Amino acid sequence: MTTKAQTRQGIRQAFRDKRLALSTEQQTSAACALVQQYKQSPLFEHATKVALYLSFNGEINTRALIDYLWSKQASVYVPVIHPFSKGHLLFQQYTASTPMICNHFGIYEPKLDSRFICPISALDILFTPLVAFDLKGNRLGMGGGFYDRTLASLGRTEVHAKPTLIGLAHDIQETAELPIEHWDIPLPHILTSSKLHSFR
Ligand SMILES: Nc1ncnc2c1ncn2[C@@H]1O[C@H](COP(=O)(O)OP(=O)(O)O)[C@@H](O)[C@H]1O
Ligand SMILES: [Mg+2]
Repeated sequence: MTTKAQTRQGIRQAFRDKRLALSTEQQTSAACALVQQYKQSPLFEHATKVALYLSFNGEINTRALIDYLWSKQASVYVPVIHPFSKGHLLFQQYTASTPMICNHFGIYEPKLDSRFICPISALDILFTPLVAFDLKGNRLGMGGGFYDRTLASLGRTEVHAKPTLIGLAHDIQETAELPIEHWDIPLPHILTSSKLHSFR
């Protein structure tokens, strides 16, 4: 018998492979188109504090979007693994001169400096990475549950509370319906290089 956890793991593997199969040209054009989508949407018009992440493993490249935000004088925050609260994330400001370290997942993150941590509720937009999404706004992540845990601890009761949660993805990460778990935090929006999906 296949458990739900095994099904979810299989979906993760399939979508990671799909993402990694994108060519450099496809990745480059997706990253540029993502900036155009961001510029076009009224959702981002007044955003000055934006949490993103540094892409890896075939994720849509956020570098051009980060450069655009910096050029607009917006503040960009990226996740840092919480030093004490296991499985939780903090969001720290990221600038061109931020000292970076490689964490134990092989992902670059700012060297922890409490002066530059932003409380999540003070962010305007929080973009989450994802491995697959469905057309109800359900999100399958890498399997660590970091975003689920961090967002659950905020005790959000209103789906449109600040910050606005938005999944970032390639179009090919869309699937009809994901097997979800009770702890999965759904997303009100997903932004891809071709459109902004809004679900609720
Ligand atoms: N709010 C939470 N509190 C405690 N553990 C959680 C919470 N959310 C998720 N987890 C745990 O994190 C693990 C991974 O979550 P999962 O949703 O499968 O990963 P992902 O969201 O990265 O795809 C699960 O074992 C789950 O029990
Ligand atoms: Mg989850």
